[in-house]
Amino acid sequence: MYDFKTHIDRTATGSIKTDIAPESVKDSGLVPLSVADMELQVAPEIVEAIKQAADKGIFGYTYADKEYIDAVRSWMKTRHSFDTEGFKLITTNGVVPALRFAVEAFCEKGEGVVIQPPVYMMFKSAIETAERRVVENPLIFDNGRYVMDYDDLDKKTAPEDVKLLLLCSPHNPVGRVWSKDELIRLGEICKRNGVIVVADEIHNDLLLNGAEHTVFAMLPGMDDISITCTATSKTFNLAGLSCSNIFIKNETIAEGFKKAADRAGAGLVPYFARSATIAAYTQCAAWVDELNSHIAANFELMYAFIEKELPMLKVIRAEGTYLAWLDMRALEVDDNALEEIVLAHGLALDEGYLFGSGGSGFERWNLALPADILEKALLQLKTAVHKALSLR
Ligand SMILES: Cc1ncc(COP(=O)(O)O)c(C=O)c1O
Repeated sequence: MYDFKTHIDRTATGSIKTDIAPESVKDSGLVPLSVADMELQVAPEIVEAIKQAADKGIFGYTYADKEYIDAVRSWMKTRHSFDTEGFKLITTNGVVPALRFAVEAFCEKGEGVVIQPPVYMMFKSAIETAERRVVENPLIFDNGRYVMDYDDLDKKTAPEDVKLLLLCSPHNPVGRVWSKDELIRLGEICKRNGVIVVADEIHNDLLLNGAEHTVFAMLPGMDDISITCTATSKTFNLAGLSCSNIFIKNETIAEGFKKAADRAGAGLVPYFARSATIAAYTQCAAWVDELNSHIAANFELMYAFIEKELPMLKVIRAEGTYLAWLDMRALEVDDNALEEIVLAHGLALDEGYLFGSGGSGFERWNLALPADILEKALLQLKTAVHKALSLR
């Protein structure tokens, strides 16, 4: 049994989640529920591997050597039935940089890149900072569940100057683990319209209640039009080690991507990331299983609380990720007022509008934390909501 209960004080460690939170929220008993890293201890096997690497006393330049590559490929095969033989493995210092490289490599300035909002905010920013055009194919919120709009996708990907789609799979923030059929439909449309699919599968291991992740590149014909982005960062809470593994089969796409990565000076594996990744992928499968059970239990706790105590709100049922998507539109307040309401009660959440179209009135909760912190947060939410309703 691993430890998912201990509280770790991250104050003054440079943690974005805790140290940059607004002073007002710190004063009201901050509960860290925002940025997608975990308030949970890293697996002891990984900590030990990093300690051993530190004991060497030299932290020089490191690359993806055979031991590293074997560990990564073997995890993909055993955990995801993804045989990466024949795929180039290109390391980058994060998945967001990889999205940027893809956008720069396969799309000229002014050309279009499709995203499916509400979606992880850096998708839009990766496109806009590169001066490419954001093309939205919003998800449809249908009876409490998010699905893709294929007719709209066909229309949006048809123009000649739309070159890329950034797929979030599993989806942050709505928690969908896309089914094989859904991905095949998306893939067929993109293929027909000559659009490359950048499959951001960073949440691929975070699966709840038996949900199964489909590697997009494994679908028939899709290895030829796709880039698969993976990392240990979300699964093992290693975001600060800045290391990701990108798989590409098509040689032209691999070459274009590599050139963009090289131009940005990417490609090395940070020294500690090397040791951590090898330990994670060779020793920590059981830790991930326990983590997923812990997260699933936190989701159940939240569903039960909201249903009983705050039935006017709705939590979207998640199939994957550790991110809960809470529908607070029943409060009938605008985004600024909603933010003030939660902040005033110490809840550092991610505001729904940050995720683009369809996000207004929602809040994203990070459930990768000890259960008692979540309980405290839910009680604070109850007070916040009751107060907001009483002022109406
Ligand atoms: C879908 C998705 N992609 C990428 C990232 C960040 O990736 P990285 O830290 O490797 O750049 C996140 C972080 O929340 C995410 O949710």
